[in-house]
Amino acid sequence: MIHTAQQLVSASKPEHTGHPDHNAVINGFGLVRQPGTVLFGVGRRDTIASAVASLGDEVLICSDARMVQTPEFEEIISDLKKRDVGVHVYSNVEPDLPRTNVEDLIEQVGQEQINVVLGLGGGSCLDMAKIATVMLTYGGDVQSYYGEFKVPGSTIPLVTVPTTAGTGAEVTCISVIYEPASDMKVGVASPHLEASATIVDPEFTLTCPPGLTAATGADALSHLIEAFTATAKNPGNGALENVLYVGKNTMADMHCREGIRLVATSLERIMANPNDVEARSATMRAALHAGYAINTTGTAGIHALQAPIGARTHTPHGVGVGVLLPYVMRYNLPVRTPEFAHMADLLGVFEAAQDDLANAHAAIERVEEILATLEIPSSLDDLGLKREDIPTVAANALRATRLTANNPRELSEESMIHILVRAHAGDRSWWS
Ligand SMILES: [Fe+2]
Repeated sequence: MIHTAQQLVSASKPEHTGHPDHNAVINGFGLVRQPGTVLFGVGRRDTIASAVASLGDEVLICSDARMVQTPEFEEIISDLKKRDVGVHVYSNVEPDLPRTNVEDLIEQVGQEQINVVLGLGGGSCLDMAKIATVMLTYGGDVQSYYGEFKVPGSTIPLVTVPTTAGTGAEVTCISVIYEPASDMKVGVASPHLEASATIVDPEFTLTCPPGLTAATGADALSHLIEAFTATAKNPGNGALENVLYVGKNTMADMHCREGIRLVATSLERIMANPNDVEARSATMRAALHAGYAINTTGTAGIHALQAPIGARTHTPHGVGVGVLLPYVMRYNLPVRTPEFAHMADLLGVFEAAQDDLANAHAAIERVEEILATLEIPSSLDDLGLKREDIPTVAANALRATRLTANNPRELSEESMIHILVRAHAGDRSWWS
C-alpha cells in the first residue's frame, strides 16, 4: 500500500513541459458536482414526501411498472397527499430510455402545471425524470438538448430516489437516452440537471432479484474502475466552461477508493444472502460513490463498447459492462499499472512482497472473481453477439468520442476490434 501510494503521490507532481500528463492528476486538481442535498440511510425513504413538498405542490413521478406496484410506492403517494401535493404518475419508463419514451411522457403530462419532478426507480427512471425537468421547463424537441451544456438554464426542481444499487444516476447531471435514428446512446448533460435533493435508502434494493442485483452491481464496479483509471485531463480555468467531464481527479479518486473498498466484499455477500441489509447498504453506498466519481470523470472505453453491443443483443447495460470489464482492464494495464496495484489493496489482495505489476494482475483477477460470483457471463458470445458484428460494434463505439476520450490508453478501431475478438472468445490468456 505505502509503496503504491508513494508512486501515485510522486506521479501527481506537475510536468515541467506544461503539457498535460495523461497518467497524472496535476497539482491535486479536483472537482465535485452534486445534488443540493444527499441523504443516505436505511429507512430514509420516509423523508421523500417532505423533500418533494418543500420544492413544489404538483409533482410528476417518473417510475416503472415494477415500482408502482410496491407497498413503498403506495406509502409515498399517501404521504404526498397528506401534504396536499398533487400527484401525476408516469409509470411506463422503459429500459435504456428510448427517445420515443420521453416524447410519450410529454404527450401525456406536458399540459399539466407540474412544478417538481420525482424520479423513483432504476437508472432509466432517474434519467427520464432529469430530461422531464428540461422538457417541462423549456419544451421543444428532445434532440435539441443532446450534448453538453445545451440546457439553457435552471429547470423545475428534481428529487432523485434510486431503487437499484448501480447506475449512480441519482447524483449525475446526465440523462442518457437511446436514439433509435442513429442506434446510439446519447447524453443530455448539463449542471442544470443536478437534483435539488437525493434520498438513497438501501432497503429499496432488498426486493431486487439476483439478476438485477448482479447487473447493477457490475455497473457500479465498472464505474469505479473507469473513473479511477480515467485519463487525467487537468483542464485549465477557461476550459472548465466547456468541459463537463474532466477525467481523473483527486475528488473523484476519493469516492473511487471508498466505493471499491465497499464492493470488495459486499456484492458477494448479497449473492449469498439477499436479505443482508449491511451488505445491501455497502453496495448502495458504493454505487453512490461511483455516481459522484463518474459525474466529473465520465465513463470510458467499457461504456463506449457496451452501447452498440446492448443495442444488438438486448442485454442489460450492467451485464454488458460486466462482460467487458476484464478485457478493457487488460488493455489499459500498461498505462494504469500503479492504479490497478492500488486497487489490489482496496480489494484486499495486495501483497507487499510483490511488485506493482503482480499486484495489478491480482486486482484484475479479483475483479474477475467478483464478476463470476455475480454470474456475469465471461464472453460476448455468451451475450449472443455475432462474431461478424464485431467491426460494426467497433465502428459505432468509436463514434462515442465523449467516452473514448476518457480511456487512459488510446482506442483506435483496430484496438477495439482486438479487445472485442478476445472478449467474444472469452480469451483471458493475455496481459495487455
Ligand atoms: Fe454504466
